[in-house]
Amino acid sequence: MSKVLILNGSPRKSGTISTLLKKITEGVREKNNEIEWVDIYSLQMEPCIACMKCRPDGECVLPKDDAHIIGKKIKEVDALVIGTPTYWGNMTSQLKVLFERNVPVFMGEKPNGMPIAKQKGKRAVIVVSCTTPWPFNFIASESRGAVRAVKEVLHYGGYKVIGKIVKPGTKKNPNISKKILSKAKKMGNNL
Ligand SMILES: Cc1cc2nc3c(=O)[nH]c(=O)nc-3n(C[C@H](O)[C@H](O)[C@H](O)COP(=O)(O)O)c2cc1C
Repeated sequence: MSKVLILNGSPRKSGTISTLLKKITEGVREKNNEIEWVDIYSLQMEPCIACMKCRPDGECVLPKDDAHIIGKKIKEVDALVIGTPTYWGNMTSQLKVLFERNVPVFMGEKPNGMPIAKQKGKRAVIVVSCTTPWPFNFIASESRGAVRAVKEVLHYGGYKVIGKIVKPGTKKNPNISKKILSKAKKMGNNL
């Protein structure tokens, strides 16, 4: 049995990302895998203060808050599902705070400065949305920027990205097609 952690990086609990993540959750449950859902915008987290002590210590020195708790969960699970709307061509700020607070969960450093992947071989799925319609979401690096930013974290963590869902044009066309919803469910089945 796999343990899957869903990170909902949208503040909107009934928005595009939440809807797609719920579909993935359905797929995960169908296969009887264990699942936990975290709404990142409900977490209490201080921002990273760039003291860099986590690099040698392997742990954030700030007083214990939700960033530590979610970091522990990330270490414990077999797969991550990361959902984020595109904000300024990137992931949302709260999701980024979570990742900045958990650098040593994802990567370590060899004495020569080379990175060490700390979650090597684990699986991940990325889900993004944006108002910019196709193909400009890709050409102008809108949703593409958000995917790239999430991939950066996953790459250094050593994750294998097994799937990606992109829903562009959410302003003019907020409906999520059956095709995308069924893709999301199938992805959940595969986790
Ligand atoms: C602060 C902020 C910044 C945004 N920046 C972008 C952007 O750079 N490009 C874009 O296409 N849409 C942008 N959007 C629109 C969201 O990506 C879009 O509404 C998204 O589909 C919302 O997803 P949700 O319903 O899951 O929250 C932005 C929205 C907000 C609130």
